[in-house]
Amino acid sequence: MQLQLSTWPEIEAYLAKSKAILIPIGSTEQHGPNGLLGTDALCPEIIARRAGDESGILVAPTFNVGQAQHHMSFPGTITLRPSTMIASMVDWAQSLVRHGFERLYWFNGHGGNIATINAAFSEIYHGVTFDKSRAERSNHAPLRCCLRNWWELPGVGDLTHQLFPVGEGSHATPSEVSITQFGYPEAVKSVAMTPRIAPNGPILDADDYRRRFPDGRIGSDPSQANIAAGEKIVAAAVKAVISEFRQFSAS
Ligand code: NI
Repeated sequence: MQLQLSTWPEIEAYLAKSKAILIPIGSTEQHGPNGLLGTDALCPEIIARRAGDESGILVAPTFNVGQAQHHMSFPGTITLRPSTMIASMVDWAQSLVRHGFERLYWFNGHGGNIATINAAFSEIYHGVTFDKSRAERSNHAPLRCCLRNWWELPGVGDLTHQLFPVGEGSHATPSEVSITQFGYPEAVKSVAMTPRIAPNGPILDADDYRRRFPDGRIGSDPSQANIAAGEKIVAAAVKAVISEFRQFSAS
């Protein structure tokens, strides 16, 4: 069930039986020569929408621009300042809480977002703590936020390691590119890459990043990406996220 494809009476009916919503969150940033700029937002979105179709979980619009400062030397990347992202997440959360949502499951596709998402949770909880009118409505359970990175779902890491024992790397990985290839087969790119496995190194500023990692990849060989692998990863992730979301909803 997608919020954007629902009407308000449908959301009102959903709220009568569940106070939990899943919010895909990612980034719009370069993902090497064959990875789509939307990869980090598309991966959680592709998994979430399938989970929503299978199980009736309500899926919010994707928060699809995040922390991508270090990718800004590559065209197409869009970034938020941490303060802007925190402020936006607080506004999303307050809007949902206003309607009665109490469990916000943020389903993340970008490692660079993690610190800012956790800071935003502190800001969201601060608002709940100091909102007197809300505290007076004592029939409301406390708001809870949860952060889950798709690649850390139970069973998914083992599967990606098995599919890509060499060249998974840490940015523009064959696993994430496979997921987008499965979701958008019409957008599959075939690109030769040299060296086959990209270098590793520290992430500093944007210009330094492009000098160290000229085609954008870190430690990865995403030329291994394929639709069949993406289908397997998505299937495992959908199963795990449905189970975890149900537990979180009931917590
Ligand atoms: Ni990524």
